[in-house]
Amino acid sequence: MTVNGTKMLLPVEAYISREWFDREQRELFGRSWQFAGMTTDIVERGQYICVQAGAYPLIVIRDDEGELKAYHNICRHRGTQLLEVTGKRKKVITCPYHDWVYSLDGKLIGVPQRRTQFPDLDMSEWSLFPASVAVWNEMVFVNPNAECMPFDKWLGDFPDHFGPHRPSQLMETDVRHYEIKANWKIFVENYIDVYHLSHLHSETLNMYDHAKLKSAVTGPGHVATYDPPTREYKRYLETSPNNYMPLAIQEAENWGAYVHMMFPNFGIAGTEYSWSTIEVMPVTPRETLVKIRTRTALEGINLAIANVYEKVGAWVSQAIGYRPDADPLQSGDFMVEDIYACEQQQKAMESPRFAFGPTSIDQEQLIIDFQNAVLSYMPDPED
Ligand code: FES
Ligand SMILES: [Fe+2]
Repeated sequence: MTVNGTKMLLPVEAYISREWFDREQRELFGRSWQFAGMTTDIVERGQYICVQAGAYPLIVIRDDEGELKAYHNICRHRGTQLLEVTGKRKKVITCPYHDWVYSLDGKLIGVPQRRTQFPDLDMSEWSLFPASVAVWNEMVFVNPNAECMPFDKWLGDFPDHFGPHRPSQLMETDVRHYEIKANWKIFVENYIDVYHLSHLHSETLNMYDHAKLKSAVTGPGHVATYDPPTREYKRYLETSPNNYMPLAIQEAENWGAYVHMMFPNFGIAGTEYSWSTIEVMPVTPRETLVKIRTRTALEGINLAIANVYEKVGAWVSQAIGYRPDADPLQSGDFMVEDIYACEQQQKAMESPRFAFGPTSIDQEQLIIDFQNAVLSYMPDPED
């Protein structure tokens, strides 16, 4: 009789090997849609965002007609990256190396000393390499391939709801970056691991009833979960004054945590108070950058009160010498707990003695589904 769930599908190499990492960067991220930012990041003509989609540096830019366009961030002369981070170009994109000039619609329109140095150059053949761009619920997504699976198809049945929130009705109140010493898949697997919620987070996420968590896997490997509030927490929400309760969330049927993951590496999480995007960016096989942007519906005086509380809290912690990193499992911050668990797991995987143990009947099933999806994007190295 089977007493355990399906075994983990990925080998240890998937988490530590450079060769595996490079293949993932080309094959998995080369064929996936990646989150680039919010439409509010690129409102004006000429505004752009740079995105590293696996091995592919890309640009999303708003052109002269106000349309979003995506290109590979590679000069057609000798490849120099044209733009960095985010910003605004006036009318054209100029390569910093030898000043080749491109229009916002990607055409090569200027080559210095063209007559003497490139007499036979047909400029129309040297436009920027196109990539694909799509907008969904104010989020901008890019794909390195100009002829890729359309975004709508990629999305499949991924839920068009994030709890009760609509990003446009919320205000960005917090942006955090975490440098994590673990493979990006360890972070994603932890993010969709139902089993750890009542254990690692027994003190920090105990307001949700994990036994009643519902989940669904859709499309190429997207995950949607809903974790309802416990009876006690529901009572607390019912009786708490609306000071901190965003208008959108005043209906009790919307309470709970909506935690979604768009395959392969983009999280969207909504709770009673906030809505966050979670970008999981692979840096090396053993390093991952996680960027979390949070919006809340707090406005005016409520937002001011919340900020004061946070500042006073930080001041008190400092005054009493409280350091959350002194004991990550006493931090009261579930993110600190998660990072701790991820980094410890990565360390263990470096040991030649390491081997995966048994898997739970169903609370780790989303991890297996994720691994299956990763494998389906990873052709054999010999092929
Ligand atoms: S590399 Fe861009 S102009 Fe030479
Ligand atoms: Fe967690």
